[in-house]
Amino acid sequence: MAKAWSGRFQQDTDQRVEQFTESISFDQRLAEVDIRASKAHARMLARVKLITDEEADQIAESLDEIQKEIENGDFEMRIELEDIHMHIENALIERIGDVGRKLHTARSRNDQVSTDMRLYIRDAIGEISDLLQNLQQAFVDRAEKDGNMVVPAYTHLQRAQPVMIGHYWTAYCEKLHRDRHRLSDCFERVNISPLGTAALAGTSLPIDRVATAKSLQFERLCGNSLDVSSDRDYIIEYVFCLSMISLHLSSWAEEWILWFSTEFGFLKLPDAFTTGSSIMPQKRNPDVLELIRGKTARVVADLQQLMVLVKSLPLAYNRDLQEDKIALFDAHDTVADCLSLAAAIVESAELQTERIKSRLEDGFLDATTFMEYLIQKGVPMRTAHETVGKMVSTCEDKDCRLADLSIDELKAACDLIEEDVFEILGTENAVAALSSYGSGGTECVERQLKRWKKKISEPAR
Ligand code: ARG
Repeated sequence: MAKAWSGRFQQDTDQRVEQFTESISFDQRLAEVDIRASKAHARMLARVKLITDEEADQIAESLDEIQKEIENGDFEMRIELEDIHMHIENALIERIGDVGRKLHTARSRNDQVSTDMRLYIRDAIGEISDLLQNLQQAFVDRAEKDGNMVVPAYTHLQRAQPVMIGHYWTAYCEKLHRDRHRLSDCFERVNISPLGTAALAGTSLPIDRVATAKSLQFERLCGNSLDVSSDRDYIIEYVFCLSMISLHLSSWAEEWILWFSTEFGFLKLPDAFTTGSSIMPQKRNPDVLELIRGKTARVVADLQQLMVLVKSLPLAYNRDLQEDKIALFDAHDTVADCLSLAAAIVESAELQTERIKSRLEDGFLDATTFMEYLIQKGVPMRTAHETVGKMVSTCEDKDCRLADLSIDELKAACDLIEEDVFEILGTENAVAALSSYGSGGTECVERQLKRWKKKISEPAR
């Protein structure tokens, strides 16, 4: 079969080259957007009288039929047709002959592929945003379910201060909100029409780029044809957004892996989301969480692959760019899977409340609030820090809590201490005392939760 570009060639393409240069094996998922863009292009060609209205209708009808065939799996993919764009155009020509041969007027695969990718990413952003919202909802539902639990919070994985459990879950809402915001920001730079910039220099034909942009619901036009055929910024930016989501998920997964361990024992994961060991009968492993953590490497590698791909590429289109789809699709699919599994796990896990409560007094979680008590009594911060540090050391020697010290022992350490100290000592008291905006105290967390319940359904701006 003659190739669309074979006019000036005298030899057939080497079989190995066909294999090596094809992209149909991975770009066939662009079929739907490619057809959407081609229909818009054909309508515009008719508008500017480069083809007739009847021809545009014929093209659109045939493209719809081709799309159905592809969807039903009745469409044959052949590597000698290279990519999805050639497949669709070729099928069109097979059906409607010369009329089909007009579709590629004032268009190159270079602007075509970029148009397709932008349309694809626009939809992809919508899908990932929805998944992020679901996960946020799962965290908010958890916060409702877990209610007034107090839990230790850590820095350096050492017990630091107590917070309400809802503070943990809304912390993830914040991260996921930034992820949604970043995506909507990225959308603005994705949602620009390259269609009609042709190969690299534009065209001498009287096209109407505004018309195609409008019908494809692009916000505005890419301004420079030379830039367009080399520009992959928008793909890199999207995959960066995905990488950031992955990084967030990896930290959450790591935390829950720890919480699920016998050593922590904070969390029970349902059987449906754990796996066993082929040799150790007692085991229940958090494989899904581990894979969510592990797949982050893949998404970040996809980002790196894209960045290295464009490094030092001269203007304008270079075939290297064909490889962009592999990394993009992989990152998108991986993150979509991770997000939906994460939501399922967040919904179904259970806190080991008794176990958490039984160890809540370990680790001097009230030490910082105690120090702040001294500050309020007029002790300079550094002095208060030192005083409490010494008392913690005394408690460690005596194997007791700060709240177990007698008023005389406390007064001996600092004579500004009064009976009211017992209102802030102890983990529950310490968390209740947290009152600054955004803190993990009871009332603040309630307020945060209220805010999130509303905010999740709003656009991330
Ligand atoms: N399959 C190619 C890609 O995905 C399409 C663009 C080909 N353009 C060209 N000038 N050879 O990048």
